[in-house]
Amino acid sequence: MDSKRTLSRILEAPQAMEGEGVPIRRAFPSHEFGLLDPFLLFDHFGGVTLKPGEAKGFPDHPHRGFETVTYMLAGEFEHRDSFGHHGILKAGDVQWMTAGSGLVHSETPAKSMLENGGLLEGFQIWVNLPARDKMKAPHYQELSGANIPTARSEDGLAAVKVIAGSALGVKGAVETHIPIEYLHVRLQPGAVFTQALPANLNAMVYVFQGSVSVAGRNVPQYHVGEIATNGNSVTFEAAEPTDFLLLAAQPIKEPVARYGPFVMNTAAELQQAFEDYREGKMGSITVPR
Ligand code: FE2
Repeated sequence: MDSKRTLSRILEAPQAMEGEGVPIRRAFPSHEFGLLDPFLLFDHFGGVTLKPGEAKGFPDHPHRGFETVTYMLAGEFEHRDSFGHHGILKAGDVQWMTAGSGLVHSETPAKSMLENGGLLEGFQIWVNLPARDKMKAPHYQELSGANIPTARSEDGLAAVKVIAGSALGVKGAVETHIPIEYLHVRLQPGAVFTQALPANLNAMVYVFQGSVSVAGRNVPQYHVGEIATNGNSVTFEAAEPTDFLLLAAQPIKEPVARYGPFVMNTAAELQQAFEDYREGKMGSITVPR
């Protein structure tokens, strides 16, 4: 039987500065909202038009034990890592990086952005890895916007970019370690969009344009709505042009020991991560700038 999931809480994503001074809205972690297993962090960055020379980024830093997923809406970011990997993420592109056992990378505005300025906007989410996958070799999945399928409702009022998982019968391209749905949903006024979402998946919505109603409650712009685990589908309704991300995944249900760029299961593993980083075991970036 189809039973509708409701919202358990709605919180505004507070503004902050990250990296060298990139304006962000961080839906979590915060003192009110620690994580939504397996999602560890949700940042909506930019959304601002930068002047020439003003673009800032995230210089060399390590990661171990989880995945970072970057989805660009506008602007260009250049990334480099300690394994010699190098590339440019453009508007619409997705980089799904499995940090696994560890690497050092940098995420900085591309040269064209630095020189010309322009609108920079996107999302970075951190997805935890189960203990069995935390020490896997680092791995990338890079999707250009053209390779991310879009599903459309019959009435044309809902368009869904399927980054991971599936929607309206369309399957996403990313391979994930655990079942994950990562959807960018665009609704026109009057749209009603229903997504099957089994109750064993933790789920959230983040609205970055317009507002969306779920089971009679409104999620305004720049707010995160946690979706209760009380049904097997969720219905979104919009009265204005609206864009939101829908994230859902099977929780890992393991202890989380996190500090800065490392997310492990125990304090000892966290300590080991810092030691390995200090001893240079995660490497350093040698790709020329
Ligand atoms: Fe990073």
